[in-house]
Amino acid sequence: MQAFVTRRIPREGLAALSQAGVCSIQQWDSDEPVPRSELLAGVAGKHGLLCVLSDQIDKEVLDAAGSNLKIISTLSVGVDHLALEEIKKRGIRVGYTPDILTDATAELSVALLLATCRRLPESVEEVKNGGWTTWKPLWMCGYSLSGSTVGIIGLGRIGQAVARRLKPFGVKTFLYTGSRPKPENAVEFQAEFVPLAKLAEESDFVVVTCSLTPDTKGMCNKDFFSRMKKTSVFINTSRGAVVNQEDLYQALVSGQIAAAGLDVTTPEPLPTDHPLLSLKNCVILPHIGSATYATRNAMSVLAANNLLAGLKEESMPCELQL
Ligand code: GLV
Ligand code: GLV
Repeated sequence: MQAFVTRRIPREGLAALSQAGVCSIQQWDSDEPVPRSELLAGVAGKHGLLCVLSDQIDKEVLDAAGSNLKIISTLSVGVDHLALEEIKKRGIRVGYTPDILTDATAELSVALLLATCRRLPESVEEVKNGGWTTWKPLWMCGYSLSGSTVGIIGLGRIGQAVARRLKPFGVKTFLYTGSRPKPENAVEFQAEFVPLAKLAEESDFVVVTCSLTPDTKGMCNKDFFSRMKKTSVFINTSRGAVVNQEDLYQALVSGQIAAAGLDVTTPEPLPTDHPLLSLKNCVILPHIGSATYATRNAMSVLAANNLLAGLKEESMPCELQL
């Protein structure tokens, strides 16, 4: 059997794949994305595909792969880059990497929230550029978590891990929204399930940790931001497309909301001349939620084991239910 790996991945994952002796591997061995033409040629006739979240695995790729393909293993928890309907129709199985990246992603979400509400990048810049002239009572003030209301969009694995970490900062109230109430996830935080509009109106901090689906696409739009408090902070560590970025820009420029911290954007990478990058009240990170050495290593091993199990037609450590 043969598998195509679309990117350079941690050595641990590649070793797990090659030492299993289950398949021969063809790899795009680079940190840069595989060019589309190389992807289409690379998947042809393969039985397995190990991909990353910036590869669009659509009908064209599936057609190029042909009928041998039985397993797609993605090095991510998000699966919005996979054409799931087409994949299901063809009887292809999907492996992904939930759980093991939850802690790292929650840590990054908290770091981004604090960096944004306490204006860390802006402050660091002022130290370097001479803006720090003396201690000033009114200078570089931000917003505190203590006594605040935090609204979480998507109280799943990562949303709960974020709430668990924020609670000790003295958050007073947790709100959450999503496709349905999840009392079993909410009980630890006494989080109240509310409609999206109410979450926008009442939260001091909004944290987006939901998956990108047709239902959540563009969900944080003009109407949403217009309901938020002028002192509120918006954080997104899920997928850029959950947010209408033009509407977010307007909300930040007009002072409709205080600040935003984004680990995800549309597109990725965000062009360096993008208007959002000109704003002091917007902190943007290059999609590094799961980027710790330990987590990326573990993700690569899990993705390898998912791929191997799929090739051997065995049960996978983490299979997406299609
Ligand atoms: C990261 O965004 C992932 O989906 O794993
Ligand atoms: C701040 O540094 C203070 O002492 O209040």
